[in-house]
Amino acid sequence: MQEQALQTIAEHHNKSVAQIVLRWQFQTGWATIPKSIRPERIQSNADLFDFTLTDEEITTINTLDQHKRVGPDPDNFNF
Ligand SMILES: NC(=O)c1ccc[n+]([C@@H]2O[C@H](COP(=O)([O-])OP(=O)(O)OC[C@H]3O[C@@H](n4cnc5c(N)ncnc54)[C@H](OP(=O)(O)O)[C@@H]3O)[C@@H](O)[C@H]2O)c1
Repeated sequence: MQEQALQTIAEHHNKSVAQIVLRWQFQTGWATIPKSIRPERIQSNADLFDFTLTDEEITTINTLDQHKRVGPDPDNFNF
């Protein structure tokens, strides 16, 4: 949420950083299940279809990858 590149893109589209991330996931083909207990976030998390990220913006977001994980690596998962 604090990432400057995402904040700049969000301001350009008059959207939140969360909406930019969700739109990036949608446009790049990731299956996303946004979950919130807050009605205003549930609504805004679905309000993604009145703007499109440019190829340049997609590339900018792609370059933010720090190759870190928040869960198991599916290629090396030991049952
Ligand atoms: N993670 C998995 O591996 C996995 C696998 C299978 C199924 N699922 C299902 O997928 C759903 C999501 O799972 P999860 O692990 O990603 O959920 P999570 O981490 O438990 O919850 C998502 C978090 O994102 C926050 N959030 C949602 N919208 C936001 C917004 N617009 N801005 C800022 N923060 C926001 C939520 O806070 P607030 O609620 O306070 O808004 C919550 O803290 C769940 O129903 C889960 O059962 C997950």
